[in-house]
Amino acid sequence: MLHTAICELLGIELPIVSAGMGGVALSNLAGAVSEAGGFGFMGTAGFSPAAIHNEIAAARKITGKPIGVNLLIPFLRPGVIETVAEEPIAAVTFFWGAPSDYIASIRRLRDARIKVIWQCGSAIEARAAADAGVDAIMAQGLEAGGHVRGTTTTVALVPAVRDAIGDLPLLAAGGLADGRGLAAVLALGADAGVFGTRFLVANESAAHREYKRAVIGAQAGDTLHTTLYDIGWPDAAHRVIRNATVEAWECAGRPPSGKRPGEGEPAGAMRRSGIEVPLVRYSVFPPTEYIEGDISGLAFYAGQSCSLVTEARPAAEIVRQIAEEARAVIANRLDPLTR
Ligand SMILES: Cc1cc2nc3c(=O)[nH]c(=O)nc-3n(C[C@H](O)[C@H](O)[C@H](O)COP(=O)(O)O)c2cc1C
Repeated sequence: MLHTAICELLGIELPIVSAGMGGVALSNLAGAVSEAGGFGFMGTAGFSPAAIHNEIAAARKITGKPIGVNLLIPFLRPGVIETVAEEPIAAVTFFWGAPSDYIASIRRLRDARIKVIWQCGSAIEARAAADAGVDAIMAQGLEAGGHVRGTTTTVALVPAVRDAIGDLPLLAAGGLADGRGLAAVLALGADAGVFGTRFLVANESAAHREYKRAVIGAQAGDTLHTTLYDIGWPDAAHRVIRNATVEAWECAGRPPSGKRPGEGEPAGAMRRSGIEVPLVRYSVFPPTEYIEGDISGLAFYAGQSCSLVTEARPAAEIVRQIAEEARAVIANRLDPLTR
């Protein structure tokens, strides 16, 4: 048994959550994770209401179990909250905004019996989200892949957030790749672990195959915490793997935006309805399987957990493996210490 308050809140079997990764965690991945007993979020950053509806409908063909949608606040389009409130989903995660500005949206979703989770990078933001009426907090540490809200590591952040929010259910994100990471954050006070980079390479993820290969081959030290990929979303820190674009920029002495090598060059062509993001070098959009052409100008988002991500597997196998490992760590390493 690994039954926690998050299992109760979301109606799931295992406290294993796949992150809502914009553009790469879509219906296939979220559906597979939820069907396996975890909880899958779809990263719908920048999607139109119609595109979100279609993605949820596609996930619903894969699983009847609870699924969720992740909304990046800087990319929220008009009508999205109203659409999402009508959809057959169990939870919404918000990221990157002031919780007090979204009290009405939180209430609207909760009135529709959708649980609202706020991903944050500090205990202060977690407290503000709790005050704004959310159902749970997701604490994201500095090790995380993708956009990184705060500057505190997961191991320092999770207990501080737990102290700040009392009994409110808590998920921990950033640096987790296996059952050892899950057991560790449960010990720190979290009720579930959120895995981004680990599921990024799952068979069902929509990440481009070359991007998956790079994540599998990378070590934590190959990642960079930066604001480099700023076209479409300036001044927002993120963690990426050093690729040819990062190396060329570093060789050029890390020049500022507007003066970087190859600035403005095209970086592949995206073919998917409902999303409008300019695909040029230094664009915020990740390399997905629906981008054609040279992807080396795009952001290879990944967390430090990439050191522990060594193979592509079906998402259901990843869920089962993390659960088995966490149970073994608790039973074989932690429990004997109490005797
Ligand atoms: C490719 C990628 C895309 C991401 N996109 C989003 C997003 O759209 N919304 C969001 O809230 N978090 C996003 N994140 C961050 C995740 O929610 C989560 O915090 C992170 O993946 C946890 O760290 P890990 O990658 O070490 O597991 C993204 C992460 C990655 C790796």
